[in-house]
Amino acid sequence: MDTDALKRMAAEAALDYIQPGMVVGVGTGSTSNHFIDALGRAKISVEGYVPSSIGTAERLKSLGLRVLDLNDTGDIPVYVDGADEIDPHFRLIKGGGGALTREKIVASAARRFVCIADHSKDHAKLGSFPLPVEVLPFARSFVARQLVKLGGNPSLRNSFTSDNGNVILDVVGLDLSDPVAMESKINSIPGVLDNGIFALRRADVVLLGSPEGVIRRS
Ligand code: 5RP
Repeated sequence: MDTDALKRMAAEAALDYIQPGMVVGVGTGSTSNHFIDALGRAKISVEGYVPSSIGTAERLKSLGLRVLDLNDTGDIPVYVDGADEIDPHFRLIKGGGGALTREKIVASAARRFVCIADHSKDHAKLGSFPLPVEVLPFARSFVARQLVKLGGNPSLRNSFTSDNGNVILDVVGLDLSDPVAMESKINSIPGVLDNGIFALRRADVVLLGSPEGVIRRS
């Protein structure tokens, strides 16, 4: 089975967590796109969807699904999103698609975070995938120097501006053996909006598409 089919399998399994009347947070990326398409087919009578990016909002709208503003909802019962890496404690690296800041906000507003991915995202520890860090353009060079002091090797993501008007530094070489500490340390650098470590708000449920079927962990 190809990777895309495994992503679709995980995304379709996430429908089990959606109940009529809910407000549902929706992630960004190719796996989340499969989830949106599954929602379009399932036609569950939810209250609406809070998107984590402009792209996700547009895809939801194109399928006639009701998009809500996070400022108009209370806490969200469930958030469904993909990941670039998942560790055994459900801590994640996200932001391959550059939507990490809004993704973390919606995930943090959610009572349950269901992470959907193909099984290649399952790792014994975090750190193979370059860590995305969203940075105010004004602070790019300063933040890059601070990331070097933390042991990282940052590179500017080419021709990319986030939905919030910012740049992304992709950082390799950081020691992520204590993901909570590194998440906080990077976010304390002035000019950083957020980084792609999801350890303070990790996933609650992980659904992995694999050739043997969907692996469910909670
Ligand atoms: C976007 C993300 C995505 O969830 C992550 O990059 C996984 O993407 P895909 O589902 O395309 O493999 O964090 O910012």
